[in-house]
Amino acid sequence: MERLQKVIAQAGITSRRKAEQLIIEGKVQVNGKTVTELGTKVDTNHDEVVVNGVPLEKEEPVYFLLYKPQGVISSVDDDKGRKVVTDFIETDQRIYPIGRLDYDTSGLLLLTNDGEFANLLMHPKFKIQKTYIAKIEGIPDRQALKKLEKGIKLDDGKTAPAKAKMIKSDRKKGTSIIELTIHEGRNRQVRRMFDAIGFPVMKLKRERYGFLNLHGLNAGEYRVLKPHEVKQLRELSVT
Ligand code: URA
Repeated sequence: MERLQKVIAQAGITSRRKAEQLIIEGKVQVNGKTVTELGTKVDTNHDEVVVNGVPLEKEEPVYFLLYKPQGVISSVDDDKGRKVVTDFIETDQRIYPIGRLDYDTSGLLLLTNDGEFANLLMHPKFKIQKTYIAKIEGIPDRQALKKLEKGIKLDDGKTAPAKAKMIKSDRKKGTSIIELTIHEGRNRQVRRMFDAIGFPVMKLKRERYGFLNLHGLNAGEYRVLKPHEVKQLRELSVT
């Protein structure tokens, strides 16, 4: 959702200030109703905005699945000039990531210009399973992994039940590969969960997001989500 005056200005019709004036003067309708309040929020994909009797063209909603490489910011720009996730996707639409992966985390990230869709998926009630593959320092036993599964007390509260599976361990190097599936999306959650049980993460990759995976993609590559995948994600969000 974006502020109405911003949406009008971005459509290239007029400046932000003139857009505000048009709103105050009652020359703007949203879904058939005249709106005179500045700051009214609209969804550019779904709301019908009419200015001086002329409808603004709606942005075509687009949905991408990116295999985010390590060393990339989950953002649309970076003041330090580092690479951002949108650098990898060719589109004229103003897309942004749905949630985020840490700079050092690789893996599956969705991007869209559909604000309503992004909000649905980022809502805490949307409990989609996210599976991470973590390379960690040390070799946890089943009991340690059980702690991850039952919930770990972090400084922002106890984590919800999760699934943890040892994929392999290297006794010589003293490292392990663990698959962890969670449905929350707190900041640096996986890294903090492993830190809490004393096994710091060396490398982290998000391998699955619900029914979506990275098959057929290398780091830095992306694909367009199929309409039935978008539909299925929407349906998951209401169950
Ligand atoms: N958990 C983390 O610690 N980092 C991520 O990027 C995603 C989940």
